[in-house]
Amino acid sequence: MSRRPVNPARRLADGGSIPFVGSAHSKSRSSPLLSVILLAVGAVLLIGYLYSGSGKTTIEKEALSKVEGVVSCTLEVQRALPVLKKAYGDSMLKVLHVGPETCSVVSKLLKEEDTEAWGVEPYDLDDADANCRSLVQKGIVRVADIKFPLPYRAKSFSLVIVSDAVDYLSPKYLNRTLPELARVSVDGVVIFAGYPGQHRAKVSELSKFGRPAKLRSSTWWIRYFLQNSLEENEVAAKKFDQASVKRSYKPASSALTAVEYTKNDFPPGFIFGSGTSAYQLCWVFSSKFSGNVLGNGDIACDEYHKYKEDVKLMAKTGLDAYRFSISWSRLIPNGRGPVNPKGLQYYNNLINELISYGIQPHVTLHHSDLPQALEDEYGGWINRMIVYISQKDFTAYADVCFREFGDRVSYWTTVNEPNGFVMIGYDFGIGPPKRCSSSFNNCSRGNSSTEPYMAVHHLLLAHASVAGLYKKNYQDKQHGYIGLSIFSFGAFPLTNSKEDAIATQRYFDFLIGWVANPLVYGDYPKIMKQNAGSRLPAFTDHESQQIKGSADFIGVINYYTVYIKDNPSSLKQKHRDWSADTATKFFCLATPRNSSLEDISRVEYLHAYIGIVLDTVRNGSNTRGYFVWSFLDVFELLDGYKSSYGLYYVDRDDPDLKRYPKLSAHWYSQFLKGRSVRSDEVFSLEKNISSLSYDLDSQ
Ligand SMILES: *[C@@H]1O[C@H](CO)[C@@H](O)[C@H](O)[C@H]1NC(C)=O
Ligand SMILES: *[C@@H]1O[C@H](CO)[C@@H](O)[C@H](O)[C@H]1NC(C)=O
Ligand SMILES: *[C@@H]1O[C@H](CO)[C@@H](O)[C@H](O)[C@H]1NC(C)=O
Ligand SMILES: *[C@@H]1O[C@H](CO)[C@@H](O)[C@H](O)[C@H]1NC(C)=O
Ligand SMILES: *[C@@H]1O[C@H](CO)[C@@H](O)[C@H](O)[C@H]1NC(C)=O
Ligand SMILES: *[C@@H]1O[C@H](CO)[C@@H](O)[C@H](O)[C@H]1NC(C)=O
Repeated sequence: MSRRPVNPARRLADGGSIPFVGSAHSKSRSSPLLSVILLAVGAVLLIGYLYSGSGKTTIEKEALSKVEGVVSCTLEVQRALPVLKKAYGDSMLKVLHVGPETCSVVSKLLKEEDTEAWGVEPYDLDDADANCRSLVQKGIVRVADIKFPLPYRAKSFSLVIVSDAVDYLSPKYLNRTLPELARVSVDGVVIFAGYPGQHRAKVSELSKFGRPAKLRSSTWWIRYFLQNSLEENEVAAKKFDQASVKRSYKPASSALTAVEYTKNDFPPGFIFGSGTSAYQLCWVFSSKFSGNVLGNGDIACDEYHKYKEDVKLMAKTGLDAYRFSISWSRLIPNGRGPVNPKGLQYYNNLINELISYGIQPHVTLHHSDLPQALEDEYGGWINRMIVYISQKDFTAYADVCFREFGDRVSYWTTVNEPNGFVMIGYDFGIGPPKRCSSSFNNCSRGNSSTEPYMAVHHLLLAHASVAGLYKKNYQDKQHGYIGLSIFSFGAFPLTNSKEDAIATQRYFDFLIGWVANPLVYGDYPKIMKQNAGSRLPAFTDHESQQIKGSADFIGVINYYTVYIKDNPSSLKQKHRDWSADTATKFFCLATPRNSSLEDISRVEYLHAYIGIVLDTVRNGSNTRGYFVWSFLDVFELLDGYKSSYGLYYVDRDDPDLKRYPKLSAHWYSQFLKGRSVRSDEVFSLEKNISSLSYDLDSQ
């Protein structure tokens, strides 16, 4: 079927010169409440809204599902019909479908018992089949441009279902069409919108529609409905939710479904926190990351001077726990030797301040910040000496921490992301200590083939040594826990091929198994030994015993999603680094960064992520806590200050480095205070944002 809008002459109105005629808008304004439900395919979301006559809006609830992939909304309608029937019951008696290929939808609806159906086809029906022509002849299906008043009297239908049609309308026409759709319906409008797949594929045809489909995000739609006084039909949304679950209906292919939840749905004792790290947040004494092109963290957020204020802010936000790292060189400036009393005082103050507000301190000992003195003396983590000497060095530093702070700190992370730290610092050479093969990234020193494996090996042994010390000398008295954290991605096969599936498993073995297997089994994954050969150091039996079971917990630090493709040819390279050894290629879907205070996408992410954590806990996962990275906009090792991962924005132009809450801070805070949350909470928050300046003294 060719997709040309009907009546090209009228399409001139697209230019805006012909004023919109018809009184639909005002009529619908005076109509009683009408429900609208939106199913955005692609970005997907399903919302029930009520059309409110008053013009005032209160959004209460939303059921939201996200899917990936490119799908036709019209096909989606057909798949969703049984669920809609459950949700709308009697409203499905007289249904109008609006959208391309309406004949097929109408025919399907007509097969349902007790359903009468009509259709509006917004495009020319050039090649309609006999069935469709007959529907048109009977007046059941009409061809009409939906930018203009629909050819029906008010309240002609119990329900209106729209698919693949409103995506083509500019806001100007949407403002007219939506009220039109509402006008002809008694009970509501169900809209399938988002990413109409077929159309995207045929870019060349798009010009025929006068306007290409606009791929609007769910956020856009929610905002749009709000602006147009559409309120949720909570009952219908809930019913749709329930019916979806019962029938295992998920919009389009893959889906993650986030429903309403509260903090109380988590087991008692489940910890919610947020984190930062020493270097990223504050200055450090002597650990200079030479030549970092992205600026440095020397001033960062000045938590050193502002900790009281920041802890107050954490309490106000409602954090159960705060995860931070101790700077080795601030505590022991030369890496070994005398303790700096000022450093000791600072961490005692911070810890006491946290405790006084009932916030658990979670402390990381090594977060990419080895003292420069040790880096200079023996090459830091690539030298095995750090493990042996550092039974005197790293372990001695840890000993100071346990001794000085362990009465109040119960959660110790020895090393933050040994795998991530090493890849960045020893393979790609883009972060401290900036080592790599010169052929890889123009580093002046290093060897990307060997050093990453050596460094992780030594970090693991150092972890085991420190954990051993803690367990031997402190755990009985202090009753704390010691573990480490792993850098991870969510990885999925790029294609359905068996090779890519195996490659994805291999990638996980290299990325996560590199650290997790030694902790659990006392050795590296088989495939790593096979592909890296002698470049991968081996554990002695004694080391293997030491490391196995040395972590009371494992922190999983998850970034974004990557897709993995098998790439066997990389194993033929002469000088292989870690990436080449994995024999994979990866493609990444990083989310665009946004430093706006209106960080709606971060809220959506948190809402979805915490919802999935809840699912895994309900499924039996022994997950004990969740930390949002990061509390403040921190200095990111790879990004400088551009990332803005924080819940709070830090105004660096203000000599006082004032903190401002982003929407995500408000959302998280509501959640932490036990409020039931759905991601549309954002929109009521958003209305408040301008009036919110964080005046801590006003508390
Ligand atoms: C559409 O309607 C909304 C709400 O009434 C209004 O804010 C917006 O400016 C309108 N957009 C256009 C393009 O007319
Ligand atoms: C890295 O080390 C390996 C093994 O010792 C050696 O074969 C290779 O030439 C070194 N590469 C560089 C760039 O120094
Ligand atoms: C690589 O290193 C050389 C010598 O230090 C330098 O002149 C050149 O600018 C560097 N290239 C890049 C891309 O960093
Ligand atoms: C950041 O978010 C704001 C508010 O949602 C939006 O207006 C802006 O376009 C976004 N910027 C980027 C780069 O996505
Ligand atoms: C929970 O378990 C079910 C059944 O095994 C599975 O389908 C689902 O993906 C799991 N959910 C999560 C978040 O792990
Ligand atoms: C918005 O501000 C009003 C008035 O200050 C307050 O009562 C309301 O709770 C705020 N809403 C949210 C969601 O923060």
